[in-house]
Amino acid sequence: MGLAASAHGSIDTLKSPSTSTLIVTRRVHFNAAHRLHNPELSDAENRRLFGLCNNANFHGHNYELDVSVEGTIDPTTGYVVDLGVIKRLVEERVTSKLDHRNLNLDVLELAGTIPTTENLAVAIWRMLNGALPGRLKKIVLWETPRNCVEYDGR
Ligand code: NI
Repeated sequence: MGLAASAHGSIDTLKSPSTSTLIVTRRVHFNAAHRLHNPELSDAENRRLFGLCNNANFHGHNYELDVSVEGTIDPTTGYVVDLGVIKRLVEERVTSKLDHRNLNLDVLELAGTIPTTENLAVAIWRMLNGALPGRLKKIVLWETPRNCVEYDGR
């Protein structure tokens, strides 16, 4: 098999993968309603700032959330983390609180904030940071297929 080994020069590095740092990502979905409104401003100013997103009776989004953790490969499993564990923890800590909810009215973690994608991303980071195996590296929150916010805890 000498020919195969020489054709795959990385074979030696695969025997000792634990020094490599990788980022693994789980994507979850939820939908929720919100209204962008700053109660300290006039109705006219809110309409000017937020447009349709200021609609008094709320509107909905289909959010996608990418949760990325960083670590080295466990030689026993070949995984950085078990993504099934990440899935369960993200459901427990995030989607169970946000899915099919009104972000202005139903979510304690967002109380007193304007529920923009930015503020929601910070709230989600706080729900997850320190709770997952591996090191939480980054979250990306997609409000639409074209708009997203990234946050890494800074
Ligand atoms: Ni919106």
